[in-house]
Amino acid sequence: MKGVILAGGLGTRLHPLTRITNKHLLPIWDKPMIYYPIQCLVNAGIKDILVVTGGNNAGDFLKLLGNGEDFGLQRLNYAYQKGEGGIADALRLAEHFADGDSICVVLGDNIIENNIAHAVQAFEGQGGGARILLKEVHDPQRFGVAELAGERVLGIEEKPAQPKTNLAVIGIYMYDANVFDIVRTLKPSRRGELEITDVNNAYIQRGTMSCDVLQGWWTDAGTFESLLRASQLVHDGGANHLER
Ligand code: G1P
Repeated sequence: MKGVILAGGLGTRLHPLTRITNKHLLPIWDKPMIYYPIQCLVNAGIKDILVVTGGNNAGDFLKLLGNGEDFGLQRLNYAYQKGEGGIADALRLAEHFADGDSICVVLGDNIIENNIAHAVQAFEGQGGGARILLKEVHDPQRFGVAELAGERVLGIEEKPAQPKTNLAVIGIYMYDANVFDIVRTLKPSRRGELEITDVNNAYIQRGTMSCDVLQGWWTDAGTFESLLRASQLVHDGGANHLER
């Protein structure tokens, strides 16, 4: 399995911080944000990693990360997303890199406390399809929200005004090679983007989606509130996956 980190976008929710840099280069406590998703993949045993970036200062990722030496890697791969087409649009740039292999996609502003190795192993044992991670939250209307029947995912709603559950779909997704055909069928949403939630719902309709509930804390860092919270969580509890 290969790893894909999506670190593009314009980060407009964090203006003026992101007027002069990319959101994923901002600090989370003592490290740039992009360090956390890379270490998350490395700790799960995924060492072949593509960083998809774009927007402001894309070249700074090369300067910061180089060939991945800080993570014990020998090389890192990069792709450049033009414009603001959404998460699923950025994913298209990973098709050549994936080359028929399955992928673990991590949104560059998602930070977790623990290791996802068990979920990665479970996905590898399920024989294709997709796997998502869920986390109970108090503000589900900010996220993709999953409805379950037992362990089966019935559907996901993107930022619903009246969420059916408080189970957020976190920004770590595992997909087989069919994901790129699914992305080709997507239409832009009301916010004009190709939505990752539509990709996930396509797998649910095919009956090949499974899920785990994440242990330990999780946060995104794309708003001022969550950016602050991310630094506090890392400072107070540590992100297990980063050498401190
Ligand atoms: C994206 C996804 C959403 C998911 C969230 C996790 O939202 O669209 O389904 O729950 O990431 O961080 P965005 O941050 O792009 O609004």
